[in-house]
Amino acid sequence: MTTEVSVKPAKGRLGILTPGLGAVATTFIAGTIAIRKGIGKPIGSYSQMGTIRLGKRTENRNPLVKDFISLANLDDVVFGGWDIYEDSVYDAAVNANVLDSKLLDQLKDELSAIKPMSAVFDKHYVKKLDGKHVKTAATKMELAEAVMEDIRQFKEANDCERIVMVWCGSTEIYIRESEVHSSVEKLEQGLRENHVDIPPSMIYAYAAIKMGIPYANGAPNLSCDTAALVELAKQHNTPIAGKDFKTGQTLMKTILAPGLKARSLGISGWFSTNILGNRDGEVLDDPDNFKSKEVSKLGVLEQILEPEKHPDLYKDLYHKVRINYYPPHGDNKEGWDNIDIFGWLNYPMQIKIDFLCRDSILAAPIVLDLAIFLDLASRAGLSGIQEWLSFYWKSPQIAEGLYPQHDIFKQFEKLKNTLRHLGGEQLITHLGLDYYEQ
Ligand SMILES: NC(=O)c1ccc[n+]([C@@H]2O[C@H](COP(=O)([O-])OP(=O)(O)OC[C@H]3O[C@@H](n4cnc5c(N)ncnc54)[C@H](O)[C@@H]3O)[C@@H](O)[C@H]2O)c1
Repeated sequence: MTTEVSVKPAKGRLGILTPGLGAVATTFIAGTIAIRKGIGKPIGSYSQMGTIRLGKRTENRNPLVKDFISLANLDDVVFGGWDIYEDSVYDAAVNANVLDSKLLDQLKDELSAIKPMSAVFDKHYVKKLDGKHVKTAATKMELAEAVMEDIRQFKEANDCERIVMVWCGSTEIYIRESEVHSSVEKLEQGLRENHVDIPPSMIYAYAAIKMGIPYANGAPNLSCDTAALVELAKQHNTPIAGKDFKTGQTLMKTILAPGLKARSLGISGWFSTNILGNRDGEVLDDPDNFKSKEVSKLGVLEQILEPEKHPDLYKDLYHKVRINYYPPHGDNKEGWDNIDIFGWLNYPMQIKIDFLCRDSILAAPIVLDLAIFLDLASRAGLSGIQEWLSFYWKSPQIAEGLYPQHDIFKQFEKLKNTLRHLGGEQLITHLGLDYYEQ
């Protein structure tokens, strides 16, 4: 059965705003502009390169996603953001040292023109950073209002029809969800009273959601992952999603673990360690900031493997994640995994992964897809947590009482089925009994 969903067409310009203009955001912006100019391809972006099967296999309908449903065109996208440093996107991209200077020089004019707006920042939440390009106000509510004013001015100056916001700022210290996050009313009171459990990322999220602007949280800190902001998102008909871009090691984990489980192979240990030398690595060198990341990374295996349902295979699984700051590697992270598995009659085996990845090269297309799909969600009238975007997250935000789905293959099916639904097509489960329907 299909139901018609009315999706407003993607007319006019889409502004993509990122709090944080560091390695990920500048690689995303420079990359998108390069792609627009035809000097690069959007590799890693499902919204730009992916196809979607429609109908029965025999129908042979496999259009590009962007030809199937109305998505913002890259030519209509404009970029902006906030940072605690005044560097333009060009200078920040040079500094991040992800893309080579020959490419950046070809984009210099456009990138130099994008200057960060002054940030909402407090060193208490990111101890390793110290920037001067920061707003001051008596209360956190006033800071939120200042962000809203920035957005209004950006929208007008750039003649945007629509805006989305993707948090690409540093990982903040670990904060547990508490009373102040439990309702819109309490959060607003907390903003007026400068409650310590409201970090900058939550202030940006509040500002965006209050304006009906879709918000995605690329870091593991709470940000929009609170009852209060979910409630606000419902009130303002705003789609939200998070958290923590699924890029290197967790991507591998959520690809591999479902396969091992499908074959009923046991796992006794999974030790993951990373070395990275970018600013993100430096921030994560602080134990309080690392704690946010650790919590986000650890949940993955537990949910996929379900040890309580498969005690013989997974009940003794020892799972450890480490991140070490190692400057010589810069943004080129190295992620090692040692996986101790066992098979028939408990005979042990080992798998070793050494992923020499590039953090921001993996994250940039995720920022693009999230911005494009959240804009679609907004035009389709969807609001609250967008679980169909779990595909992109290390720690998918979910409604209370549910558990997150980490299996990347299930996540991908859900993403595609949501697109089919929005496009008025039949869902595909690959489970039909009729030979032709599968
Ligand atoms: N690269 C990846 O693969 C990956 C994967 C998952 C999550 N992340 C997360 O994405 C975020 C960005 O990563 P990155 O490599 O670009 O880090 P980065 O350190 O290069 O950039 C972060 C930027 O945010 C700025 N910033 C910090 N607090 C801010 C605030 N309150 N307002 C505005 N700007 C602020 C910093 O000055 C910095 O320029 C991090 O939280 C990281 O953990 C990255």
